Amino acid sequence: MPQHYLGIDVGTTAIKALIVDESGTVIGDAEAPQELSVPQPGWSEQDPSDWWRGTVDAVRAACSQAGVRDVKAIGLSGQMHSSVLLDDADEVIRPAILWNDVRTTDQCRFIVDRVGKTGLRRFVGNPALEGFTAPKLLWVRDEEPDLFDSVRTVLLPKDYVRLLMTGLRATEPSDAAGTLLFDVRRNRWSEEMMDALEIDSAILPPVRGSASVTGGLTADAADVLGLRAGTPVVGGGADNAAAAVGSGVVELGTMQTSIGTSGAVVAPIKRPRVDPGMRIHSFNHAIDNTWYLMGVVLSAGAALAWFSRSLVGPQSRPPAYDELVAEAAGVAPGADGLTFLPYLTGERTPHADANARGVFVGLHAGHQRGHLVRAVMEGVTFALRDSLELMRRLGIDASESVAVGGGARSQVWRQMQADVLGVPVVRVGPSGGAPYGAAILAAVGGDQFGSVEEACRAWIRPLDHLEPDTEATDAYAVAYGRYRKLYPRLKRHFAEQA
Ligand code: XUL
Repeated sequence: MPQHYLGIDVGTTAIKALIVDESGTVIGDAEAPQELSVPQPGWSEQDPSDWWRGTVDAVRAACSQAGVRDVKAIGLSGQMHSSVLLDDADEVIRPAILWNDVRTTDQCRFIVDRVGKTGLRRFVGNPALEGFTAPKLLWVRDEEPDLFDSVRTVLLPKDYVRLLMTGLRATEPSDAAGTLLFDVRRNRWSEEMMDALEIDSAILPPVRGSASVTGGLTADAADVLGLRAGTPVVGGGADNAAAAVGSGVVELGTMQTSIGTSGAVVAPIKRPRVDPGMRIHSFNHAIDNTWYLMGVVLSAGAALAWFSRSLVGPQSRPPAYDELVAEAAGVAPGADGLTFLPYLTGERTPHADANARGVFVGLHAGHQRGHLVRAVMEGVTFALRDSLELMRRLGIDASESVAVGGGARSQVWRQMQADVLGVPVVRVGPSGGAPYGAAILAAVGGDQFGSVEEACRAWIRPLDHLEPDTEATDAYAVAYGRYRKLYPRLKRHFAEQA
């Protein structure tokens, strides 16, 4: 009997579902778009019930495309850090506060006051950043105390979908790591951190393995999804970790650059390692005894989406990305002196500054739309390089990078990554994204493979390979120098405007 796996990613712009057969081939692929709510500047929320509706739609569409009504196992992946708060009847108490929401600066200060940087380093191995889950909990405790009193459970997005699928609360290390309540080194919730912040550890779900079965589909969920009751659901992974699994970035010496809504540079490590300056995140991978270092650009694909939606009318029909990228391709590296800082929603790495904002500098009357698009793409790529430079100082030395996310679909953007980062950039198949990684974890949990590494070796293959171009690399070195100088010059201005 053929065996299929279902991988689901609870993303910010869409829920994605893939059906993969036992040879790793994608035979069903569907997406359900998601809306983002911005109730105030700097806030970013979604309604978890929309994720569930999107999951049902995407799963049904992917299954129908594949002609499949039964899968051997399901893997989940999702946006990291975003908080789903549930009451004692498992009802959602308020909209989820997302990873790119920066309302929690006061709560981050409170955390640093309580445990100090030393406590952060020791207990959780990461800095207190607005996007992480713990400051969001504290914000609700400070600003919506009545709601907070009724919180019985906090879940991450994919784990909320798991609850609706299986009726069970669970998470796994790669997503737990992004809460700032998880001891990344010891692979367990940090009682020390929760004591210091006076958070009741009972609200957190048990931590299972990323490739372990956490429960089976309930009869109701199976009915709604069109699948078999009891189908095993494995732990899965945080989207960046799952994407790394899906692109085979699981060993020391490999690296992934992703351009989705956010951007990230991910490099696996085989021992837990905390950046002494804590500018680079240090999280658990979705593989046993593996961690990864990561730098995050909050607005990556989101910057190009903003440009197309807001600067190029009409609102109802923004131009296709391909059209914009083709215009950018006609402009030489360096965008004729135009520089863009992509900090539309503040920035995580390297500045950790929620007040930073997007900026075009150097506009002149001869610039066309293609220059602006090119500057946006270059700004995002320079932001990735900022992360990579910090990671190189921590000893990361990868001979190539696997490009994933929507930005990897564009050859122009992949070549730009190779030229700016100074490493060959490869694309891998069949899919190289978070839902494919979730499907791999399902195949390991479903016992087709003995390990994630074995599954990656069997299923993932290189599709193409772009070498850095020396002339372009030189031009980008100049443009990157210009880019690097801007933030320090504008930092005070951003703070004054906050
Ligand atoms: C990672 C992060 C984002 C989200 C996007 O720390 O905040 O990359 O995971 O879904």
